[in-house]
Amino acid sequence: MGSKIAIIGTGYVGLTTGACLSHLGHRVVCADVVPEKVESLSRGEVPILEAGLDELVAEGIEEGRLSFVLGAEHAVGDAEFVFLCLPTPQGADGAADLSFIKAAAREIGPHLQADAVVINKSTVPVGSAGEVAKKLERPDVHVVSNPEFLREGTAVADFLHPDRVVIGADDPEVGKRVAELYSALPGEVLVTDPASAETIKYASNAFLATKISFVNAMAAVCEEVGADVVDVVRGMGLDQRIGDKFLVPGPGWGGSCFPKDSHALVRIAENHGYQFGLLRSVIATNEEQFGRVANKIARFTGGAVEGKRIAVWGLTFKAHTDDLRDSPAINIIRRLLEVGATVRAYDPAVEPGTTDARLAGIEIVADPYAAVDGADVLAVLTEWPEFRDVDFGRVAGALGERNVVDARNLLDGAVLKAQGFAYDGIGRS
Ligand code: UGA
Repeated sequence: MGSKIAIIGTGYVGLTTGACLSHLGHRVVCADVVPEKVESLSRGEVPILEAGLDELVAEGIEEGRLSFVLGAEHAVGDAEFVFLCLPTPQGADGAADLSFIKAAAREIGPHLQADAVVINKSTVPVGSAGEVAKKLERPDVHVVSNPEFLREGTAVADFLHPDRVVIGADDPEVGKRVAELYSALPGEVLVTDPASAETIKYASNAFLATKISFVNAMAAVCEEVGADVVDVVRGMGLDQRIGDKFLVPGPGWGGSCFPKDSHALVRIAENHGYQFGLLRSVIATNEEQFGRVANKIARFTGGAVEGKRIAVWGLTFKAHTDDLRDSPAINIIRRLLEVGATVRAYDPAVEPGTTDARLAGIEIVADPYAAVDGADVLAVLTEWPEFRDVDFGRVAGALGERNVVDARNLLDGAVLKAQGFAYDGIGRS
């Protein structure tokens, strides 16, 4: 028989964690504050695009191990383990905003059973386990850090096949209890103190962002010296000390985690007297990359995009997700709109008519051909594989000018050039 678990927050992390833990045989109650969301989840309707999640939610409901309730206090009464999976957005000063976590801790404190374990899964600043403990006002309850390393789009697979599970607990016995929840999974379980576990999460995301900024900077060098960054990465990646993962150049990194976590780590370091110059440069290189892509687009229109029509393929921050948070594509589009361009965009995960402030000023169309109709430049900003299968003969006929900026190196530049397109990728000529 599995453990009794409550999940507070049914966003990308909470819902994936809840569905996967229920798949592993635990009894899971997920709480949220939005009544419509609780109702639709209870019917098995998953509001986000996440491979395999629909199936696991349906399985959990059907087998009676997964349920959804309104309000955190109603989920925890019975629970041996309570996962806090709440947003920690970037505050005005760059630091993570803990208000959702603290409010939830205050709310659930009086309802927890003795000896329950409250687990911080959200990415929280070092020291947050202690902060949560204070808000709970329950000395008989334990607080543990158990950061998630899930990538959106492959979160279910990442959960079920982790490289590692990190558990930060002051009391090793409590750490063991949490480790038991994952005992059916492969991957090493590392039990540390809470501060180290919290730091591992920030260090991992900051390091991955550093790799990407490094390769984007190398791509700029490649363009100047006439090298091909794809070959350069292949050559680097074969060195086992380096590896080839997270070295794919692109329009810059984005999403709901890297930007906020890298800024938060700069702030955490600063608050403790260390100026994290390296990480500041990583962030600055990323901002530069958005500008570099916008400039590539402008170069095709003679340096200025005012009055020009730009077709965009891809709005989400990466492929296989419908998430628009801190999307590089949108950052780049904003830069174009600010200087007077018109943007018509297609994304397989964004419907025309979607009302979202982030999409203001962008015309969204239902297919890739409608986007390119009469455009001066086509910019590929998200790496949806289906863009490779588009009929480029038709695109050539529809475009006003046959210019392609491929910010993901997704397309075959040589083939496009042979078809009469002017093509510019990242880090290759
Ligand atoms: C990231 C981490 O990869 C997860 O381990 C972590 O759990 C998660 O943040 C989190 O903190 O919650 P995610 O934001 O879903 O996951 O997306 P990634 O796949 O890491 O991509 C982040 C950004 O980097 C995207 O904009 C992507 O396009 C870009 N990227 C990624 C590159 O430009 N090149 C690469 O080689 C890899």
